[in-house]
Amino acid sequence: MLEGISGVSTYAAEVDEAFWIVTGLTFLLFFATIGAMFYFAWRYRASRVPAFEAKNIHHNTALEITWTVIPTILLMVMFYYGMTSLKAMRTFPDEGVKVKVTGFKWAWRFEYENGKKTTELYVPVNQNVLLEMSAPKGDVTHSFYVPAFRVKEDVVPGITTRLWFNATDQGQFDIKCAEYCGTRHAYMLSKVVVIEPDKFAAWMASDKMTPFDKDPETTASAPAVSKGETLFSMNGCNACHSMEGQKLVGPHLNDVFGTEVTVTTNGEQRTIIRDEEYMTRSITDPDYDLVEGYLPGMMPGYKEMISPEDIQEIVKYLKGDTPPPAAAPVAAKPKIDGKQVSMLNGCIGCHSEDGSKVVGPSFKGIWMREVNVVEGGNVKTIVSDAEYLREAILRPNANIVEGYQPMMPPYEGVIKDEEVDALIEYFKELK
Ligand code: CUA
Repeated sequence: MLEGISGVSTYAAEVDEAFWIVTGLTFLLFFATIGAMFYFAWRYRASRVPAFEAKNIHHNTALEITWTVIPTILLMVMFYYGMTSLKAMRTFPDEGVKVKVTGFKWAWRFEYENGKKTTELYVPVNQNVLLEMSAPKGDVTHSFYVPAFRVKEDVVPGITTRLWFNATDQGQFDIKCAEYCGTRHAYMLSKVVVIEPDKFAAWMASDKMTPFDKDPETTASAPAVSKGETLFSMNGCNACHSMEGQKLVGPHLNDVFGTEVTVTTNGEQRTIIRDEEYMTRSITDPDYDLVEGYLPGMMPGYKEMISPEDIQEIVKYLKGDTPPPAAAPVAAKPKIDGKQVSMLNGCIGCHSEDGSKVVGPSFKGIWMREVNVVEGGNVKTIVSDAEYLREAILRPNANIVEGYQPMMPPYEGVIKDEEVDALIEYFKELK
């Protein structure tokens, strides 16, 4: 929404000042020029100035000096404010939280100093954050843009560009790609989540994927994550609904089951109990009972996107039902999750999981599928086994599937061998 419209970085005020001064002067000059034009058109209309009376004026020194000096001063004023705000932005602090940003077709990935990777950028409030940004070789130019911080910088393949900010408020702020980069440019969105420094530090020291995840191993006998909780994060519910009591885009959802809430239903306010029926309807038809203080149309209806059984699992999770104890003790080293690799590397931007054709072929049923590939101009039929899939990920343009264009960037050197293996394991599951 309009979160961040007032600017939430240390230099936002200076950028805004420059913006308003330039805008103000532009309006002033616009009205002065257009005003003078209308005035002269009226003052010297044909009926008032017979043609033979017109004098041919050669020059007027005082007037010419005036219209040279005043605009020069105005331009210097604009230059001054533009320069000082640019200087504030481009003077990098020595210390700060360092994050590597990768922009690629068509997603963002953030890597922290300890190797943690996320798809949303988590940063501590009131601390300097230094970004080193790049795009994989063979990708295209993107632009990292956070309107709330008043900052934008190109992300270019093979080059490292830098940017810094110090966020002055907690909350979630949009990240956009501000450089047209192809089919899904408009969907190349993410968020900066500004949190308390303590929470950030604790997250850095933990094994948690994001600062909002439950600790995976609080105690030795901790139950495995329930199906409902997994579904809750997989469907992105946690992007808008906190399970820790804060208001994000939507209401927080921990400890709300069975409590009263004021909603608007068909234009009428009423107070209802948040029971199973209410929770289910809030997922399938979110605008039906609109909670006070929230806007309609923010949440998509999940009726078509999540099966009724899975919705029941999510409701069970929100209700706080304890999941069944883990069948086996948790292994020390978590294995790499192929689905996670696919998300972090933006594969799902172009390859669906459900059989639909997006930009590239769907992952559903890709394992051991017979495909026609074009190799050096000749079409041949092959079986997409592990060897083929590995090639298709690392060097996609060597064997293009018939009917597709060579547009995927090569992932050689971008993802690790184990990650390729994990992806292939994940493809096997998508029958
Ligand atoms: Cu990336 Cu536009």
